Amino acid sequence: MKRAWWKESVVYQIYPRSFCDSNGDGVGDLPGILSKLDYVRDLGVDVIWLSPVYQSPNDDNGYDISDYQAIMAEFGTMADFDALLAGAHERGLKIVMDLVVNHTSDEHAWFVESRSSKDNPKRDWYIWREPKNGGFPNNWGSAFSGPAWELDGQTGMYYLHCFSKKQPDLNWDNPAVRDAVFDMMTWWCEKGIDGFRMDVISMISKPDGLPDVPMNPGQLYGDAMTGTCNGPHVHEYLQEMNRRVLSKYDLITVGETAGVTIDEARRYANDQGTELSMVFQFEHVGLDGGLADKWCTNKIALPALKENLNKWQKELEGRAWNSLFFCNHDQPRVVSRLGDNSPASAKCIATMIHMMQGTPYVYQGEELGMTNCPFPSIEAYRDLETVNAYYELTAAGLREGDELLAAFARKSRDNARTPMQWDGSENAGFTTGTPWIMVNPNYKTINAAAQESDPDSVLNYYRALIRLRRNSQWTEAIRDNGFTLLSPEDARIFAYLRPGKNAALLTVCNLSPEAVDYALPPEVPQGDWTPVLLAGAPPALTEILHLEPWQAGVWGINATASM
Ligand code: NOJ
Repeated sequence: MKRAWWKESVVYQIYPRSFCDSNGDGVGDLPGILSKLDYVRDLGVDVIWLSPVYQSPNDDNGYDISDYQAIMAEFGTMADFDALLAGAHERGLKIVMDLVVNHTSDEHAWFVESRSSKDNPKRDWYIWREPKNGGFPNNWGSAFSGPAWELDGQTGMYYLHCFSKKQPDLNWDNPAVRDAVFDMMTWWCEKGIDGFRMDVISMISKPDGLPDVPMNPGQLYGDAMTGTCNGPHVHEYLQEMNRRVLSKYDLITVGETAGVTIDEARRYANDQGTELSMVFQFEHVGLDGGLADKWCTNKIALPALKENLNKWQKELEGRAWNSLFFCNHDQPRVVSRLGDNSPASAKCIATMIHMMQGTPYVYQGEELGMTNCPFPSIEAYRDLETVNAYYELTAAGLREGDELLAAFARKSRDNARTPMQWDGSENAGFTTGTPWIMVNPNYKTINAAAQESDPDSVLNYYRALIRLRRNSQWTEAIRDNGFTLLSPEDARIFAYLRPGKNAALLTVCNLSPEAVDYALPPEVPQGDWTPVLLAGAPPALTEILHLEPWQAGVWGINATASM
């Protein structure tokens, strides 16, 4: 594999709305982030991914952009952004911008023009269709409930919106759209940003004829994401983007690629660097989903998780680069999803993720073991995906309200969006005003200030994990070595080897609430294993390894003849 700085990086994602509010309006902002840069630096990460900070009417918290070259007023000004970028660079931190170009806001000037008349020069910048048999042009539904089509009264035509009706999809087949997007990206690169996280980039090339997609029982519409993922020209457009913009700068690029397969990932994130640095795949976080949608209380079965992550580790090895993540602003908190909300389970899960090959992403608060939030009623939720699903599915008689609330408690995106828990003061130190979304009531026990000075805290464990990856005798092995899954059928232990020429690493995690005596399988070579990092596990690697609930450990060995 080619060497690249982003293969040695750890990325920290900031959701600006919920990170730190500097002016008491209850909404996080750029000066707030600036004031916390030392905290981020001290975590040891070297890249910050900022969820969107552009001008937006906030239908989807900034993922609906009305001006790509202006900052959302609630977050500050362009001068605040410049100060943040400079402050980050002074501390050796890079900044990755969220690039949301599958769609714009319906309030973007491009769309305002496009909808104004059938012969407007920007009409073809979006995807307009005549009604079919008096109704929608196809059976696609929006990811946020309802159809993926909105009838525009003025011209009597429908426009496509795979997300909310305030997020019309751009027409990437139009070269003028690509020119405008690439110009905008160049403008940000010239400003000195360090990369892009590309929102639903696998959906930009729509299939010819926009055919219906098959539907599952319990669905009101077909899944537009299925209809648009990995479309006919997506690689062509990304290669053009790479030639015209990305290749001119030294960037980290990560594609959010819903529906990506191994073969597609090998193309998006190919090691020749003709498209993107890496992709986010979502199979492992979809393992607890239902047939109709994600709104159920299923749990992820450990053997299925291991099989899936093993596949991504093995199949991309030497050909494309993995991202490693469980948390982001769209996912519930992993310590509630796979763990039992305890600090021990937070450390165990972190170990399981970070010792694999790829670039790890840490989502704000994950490093504190922040948990899902006990929202008391549907009125306490803010996320349009959650709120729309509640009203649509109950009105259609497909689900009971209580059943949905139980599913939201496990899966709603708002679980990730409650304010960052800085300290035990009112509103967790996030704001002096009224927070835009409730603060998790557990902030008095789970917060950064309390964990700062506790050597056993989740925060200090994350620091040690990140240090290990970036600056230790094991750095090379973590980055370069292969991956061998151990005990695939074991429903409690997630264990793997990272075998290599010069050294090997062994990771064993007891991802269960029971004590386990784990017999090391024969694939583990005999030798002088030394502890590398322990999350409760005993230092000596014995043939039968006794692990209490949620304990984990990493051991290393220099190469021996038997390897
Ligand atoms: C994926 C983003 O991560 C999510 O937050 C957003 O709602 C959709 N794309 C639409 O932009």
